Amino acid sequence: MKVSVIGCGYLGAVHAAAMAEVGHDVIGIDVDADKIARLAAGHPPFYEPGLAEILTSATATGRLRFSSEIADARGSQVHFIAVGTPQVQGGYAADLTYVNAAVDSLTPHLSEGDLVVGKSTVPVGTAAKLAERIQASGTGARLAWNPEFLREGFAVQDTVAPDRLVYGVANGEGDPAVAILNEIYAGAVAANTPVVVADYATAELVKVAANAFLATKISFINAMAEIAEVTGADVTKLADAIGYDTRIGRRFLNAGVGFGGGCLPKDIRAFTARAEELGRGESVAFLKEVDQINLRRRQRVIYLTVQALGGSVYGKKVAVLGLAFKPHSDDVRDSPALDVAVQLRGLGAEVVATDPQAIANARARHPQLGYTDDVSAALQGAHAVVLVTEWPEFSAIDPEWAATLVSVPVVVDARNRLDADAWRAAGWQYLGLGRP
Ligand code: UDX
Repeated sequence: MKVSVIGCGYLGAVHAAAMAEVGHDVIGIDVDADKIARLAAGHPPFYEPGLAEILTSATATGRLRFSSEIADARGSQVHFIAVGTPQVQGGYAADLTYVNAAVDSLTPHLSEGDLVVGKSTVPVGTAAKLAERIQASGTGARLAWNPEFLREGFAVQDTVAPDRLVYGVANGEGDPAVAILNEIYAGAVAANTPVVVADYATAELVKVAANAFLATKISFINAMAEIAEVTGADVTKLADAIGYDTRIGRRFLNAGVGFGGGCLPKDIRAFTARAEELGRGESVAFLKEVDQINLRRRQRVIYLTVQALGGSVYGKKVAVLGLAFKPHSDDVRDSPALDVAVQLRGLGAEVVATDPQAIANARARHPQLGYTDDVSAALQGAHAVVLVTEWPEFSAIDPEWAATLVSVPVVVDARNRLDADAWRAAGWQYLGLGRP
């Protein structure tokens, strides 16, 4: 099928490349001409495993092109809206400026039978309003809402082989959008991927509900970590033990410095703002607690570091291992790791941070921090080491080797990924989160 993808960020760039990879004829469109030039040359503007490979292979087939002109969407039968919905300044709500602008600029180029497919995460009720606008334009185009569940670091795999497909449509199973989307996702449908056909509101809510559930699961285990900290219990063993219950499951029960990124934090806040608008604020009031628990974990990491250094980090060198909000990503949006680094710097520490992918993004936002791409240079002479992003290369650091580099062998394992016994045996003061 001929497909346009409007918005080529973390979501849209991967979606465009993946759609071409599975055989569609795709044009990716973004207002950022620099980003478009890089994508067209096969260079992803961000780090995502596997993306460069499919960009190159799909571009070579001629099925993937990029443009900064919305008029180039003309002629495509399906138009994906994949622009961002960031948190507004001074509030919790989602900023719909980019979604509205994308739909408004696209509308003059739509033809009878075209399908506009929303992928962006939006407050419930947005799709119905957009559908009205598209209908009022008299183009004969339709709207479907098809939320995206991709995880950064696994985005290509999640797009090509999703867990499930959700189609929010105006007229149930018989809506013409269902057949079009089944053709778009023919490979996944043939592989028996579950397809849920729903109304717009349900489709929009599925996305925010899923993210709210995941955030709640992480904050639940982090709340248990807080209790463990005053009782001498070990939250990692607790997570293993409750995780064996298949009704609970062990995934997303890793206690640590908490969640960040471009989705979970802003999505739970936008959900509370939207629920309040709908007069149902109390239904998701617990998400404010989820947010608070999450943010408190960052303070706990700072507290442990300060305590370990005798009450002050002033003038002390702190090696910060990690800047990205999670491993296998260069994304520092709302990153707990970067936040901890910045706060320690604010307390007078000499922060030297390292990350396999995220240094450039972190430096652009916080040029005041010290950065190195060499782990041994970060550790050299450090008075404390703080592991804040669980990159495999950090978990694999040999504690005996690291002890020879630092000034003071103190490690704060803010992701509970190090072998505490091995680090203690190598002479380190080991401090985990929710662990004795
Ligand atoms: C998330 C959702 O998983 C995805 O379905 C949605 O489409 C977008 O938001 P992503 O932001 O890529 O994806 O990251 P995810 O893997 O969910 O991790 C989010 C944060 O939670 C990371 O900062 C991670 O370190 C943290 N996390 C995750 C924990 O602190 N503990 C865990 O057990 C799991």
